[in-house]
Formats: sequence, C-alpha cells, structure tokens
Amino acid sequence: MFVSDHAKVNAAGNLEFSGVDTVALAQKYGTPLYVTSLDGVKASCAEFTAALDKHYGGNGMILYASKANCNKAICKTVSSCGFGLDVVSGGELYTALQAGVDPARICFHGNNKTETELRLAIENDVGRIFADSLAELDDIERIAGELGKKAKVLVRANPGVEASTHEYIMTGQVDSKFGLSIDKGDALAGVLKALASDNIELAGIDCHIGSQIFEVLPFVDEAEMLMNFLFSIRELTGVTLGELNVGGGFGVRYVPSDDPLSADRIIGAVAARVKRFCAENDFPEPFLMFEPGRAIVANNGITLYTVGCVKEIADVRNYVSIDGGMFDNPRYALYGARYTACVANKASQPADYRAAIAGKCCESGDLIGKEITIQRPERGDILAVFTTGAYNYSMASNYNRNPRPAMVVIDDGEDRIAVRRETYADLVSFDEE
Ligand code: LLP
Repeated sequence: MFVSDHAKVNAAGNLEFSGVDTVALAQKYGTPLYVTSLDGVKASCAEFTAALDKHYGGNGMILYASKANCNKAICKTVSSCGFGLDVVSGGELYTALQAGVDPARICFHGNNKTETELRLAIENDVGRIFADSLAELDDIERIAGELGKKAKVLVRANPGVEASTHEYIMTGQVDSKFGLSIDKGDALAGVLKALASDNIELAGIDCHIGSQIFEVLPFVDEAEMLMNFLFSIRELTGVTLGELNVGGGFGVRYVPSDDPLSADRIIGAVAARVKRFCAENDFPEPFLMFEPGRAIVANNGITLYTVGCVKEIADVRNYVSIDGGMFDNPRYALYGARYTACVANKASQPADYRAAIAGKCCESGDLIGKEITIQRPERGDILAVFTTGAYNYSMASNYNRNPRPAMVVIDDGEDRIAVRRETYADLVSFDEE
C-alpha cells in the first residue's frame, strides 16, 4: 500500500514509520519535520555489504555518498556499518571528521575542489582523493609536497556512458563537467601525470555515470570500459592499478511504478563482469568500490507537514498547502520529481482525494507534486510525504527566509533529534547591520 518498506497503519489508525507513530512525532517535535530511520539505513547498508561479500568476496568497500543526506548522525551510522564515506565539499568532509569517521575511510570527490578543501583533506589524511582534472592533480602534487604527505589518488575517468535519467543528474556522457574523458585521451594524461608525481600514490580509476538509474546494463558497460582502461594502462606503462570505483546512482522507488534494482542484482552483475574480464585477461581483480547515496537513505526518510489552506478550484484542481515546500524539498521544482503522500492521522481512511500538494513559497512551481492522491485533508491534519530521505535535507534552503526543519532519527526504535530546527534568530545571526 505504501512505497516505503517502513510504513504501516497502526491500531490508532495513524501512519507508523519505522515502528513510531508519525502523528505523535509531529506533536512532539513540530512540523515540518524530516524523519530518518537509522534502523532502515542500517538495513540498507547491510544489503550492500552482503552483496559485496557474496559476489566479490568482500574485496572492496561500499562508500555512502553523503551528499544524499549529510549530518553527524547519518555519517556515524553508516560508518558503524563498515561503510566508507564519499564527501564532495569541505563542509561534508568537516561533518564526517566531526562525526568521528576514520579519515582513512573518507574519499574526497568534486569537480572543482578549492585550495582550502584540498588542504583540509590532505592535512587530515583522507584515504582517497578522486582527482577530477589535470589542474587538480597539479594542486594535489603541490599541496601534498608542502605538507610532506603522499596523497592516495584515483583518477576520475569519464567513460562516455549515457544512462537514461534526468539530464541534470547524468554524469557519464562525454559532454560533462565531470572527470577526464577516456575517449579523448584526457584520462590517460591524468594517469601519466599522477604516476610521474612523487607526492601522489595513484591507486586506480573512479567513475560515476549518473543517478536514479533503473537498468543494470549501464553499470556493466561502465565496468567493462573501466577494466579495459586499466588494462590499457598496464600495456602502456607496465603499472597495474589495483582499485576501481564504479560510483553510485542506483534508483529507488518514489512511486509504485518505479522498479528499482536490488544491491544484490547490480553488484552481482558488475562483479561478474569484472571477474570475467580479469580471468580472460590475466589481470588481478581490483579492490572494488560502489558509492550509493540515494539507495541508502531515500526510502528511509519521510517528511511530516501540517496541512494549512485547502483550496478547491471547481473543475480545475484542489490545492492542499503545507507548512513546508521547495525550501525543504526542491526536487519537484528542479526535476519534476514525483512523490506519494498520506494524511498521517487518517491513514486508515481511503485515499481518494486528488490534489496538488503546495508549499508556502512565493512561486507557483513550489509544489511537492501536482497530482497526488491522499485521504481527504483538513486544516491541521498531518501530511506525510514518502521517500524524502535523499536530496531533501541536503538540498534545503532558507528561501523566503523559512527556517530549515529539524530532523528526527529513529534508532533502535527510539526517536531523537539529529538536527535541530532552525530559528528566526539563526536566520539573522549571519547578518551585519
Ligand atoms: N558518486 C558521485 C560521484 C556522485 O556524483 C553521486 C551523486 C553519487 C555517488 C551518489 O549517487 P546516488 O546513489 O545518490 O544516485 N540532487 C539529485 C541527485 C544528484 C546526484 C549527484 N551525484 C536528485 O535530487 O535527484
């Protein structure tokens, strides 16, 4: 009935999420409220770890792409599950360090890392830096030299794979700001530069082809191309690079018609192709990394809102306005993303009311969805929107000077605040007269 694995209707007729009554959560913490099930996050992590163990003898590491939802509680939780952490900015890196994540398991991504960010990473001995450009390799070489360190680097290669997803979140095509093209010879130039550096230990190649992908073939094609690239590097230089990161991008279910692949299916298919390539080409099996973000958190999160104005425009559309909107979830406005929702305090009633769920920001595109079917709502009801665990909190803003919501986590069945609600005082605290 619900897209979320953790949702059900409880005896009181309310929506329960991860074992906790959502109406009680809304009363206790106020709305809008992000709710993240760390119990669910742990279960998702376990699926990935089991798949890597089963199909590749555990010879690798799963990295959580923290851009999907980054705060100390989540960084700590995924680390406790044995995951590494992909960070893509100084802010994410700082959060991971503050959360006590082992720097050796932090991997630093980004297509335009600043001097300050690279310094922070190298000073703190992050495990791997994924170098995105020739200029960045020069920066790493220089900064590592100045700090008397040797930086472990993977070169981000662009394999020219087009995965069918939204144009804004496609990253493996040649015409991209990310990585160094294999076809154009740029990736090889990066490899040669890194090999020539005294302050860089070149460990391997990394790649990421896009996000919210529902097919296995693009990942398998990508793995094959990267293995071919590793092979040609060995032919050319005699150096066998031992690490391969195939990135993230595994799709999740937002609406019932979405049909995501399991971690077992994707990792199984990629691992099989890599192993076959290695067997056929007498190449050692690389340390294999995957980098899921959305697949770890999306379905483990919901957002609770309070229903305000309900406007029924005869023969046109019903608008159900909530106390949140594009400032806590910009994904409809950005990508036309689709969601499902439920009136949490009427969860046992039939869902037969079709409406646009509208935010409170001053623009017409500020919707959670244009046509969502829910129980008949009234002012004061609690509306739960599902599958908001990824790229909601992390993409939130203060648009219209709205304070960002709090995040509550459910950990071993208990709820607690992981991120406190912003106040109006917070909003003006950066302002100078
Ligand atoms: N690795 C790299 C290098 C990435 O750029 C990304 C996502 C991931 C891993 C994780 O991808 P995931 O498993 O979460 O699909 N804001 C967009 C998604 C942007 C994804 C950016 N990169 C959205 O809300 O759909």
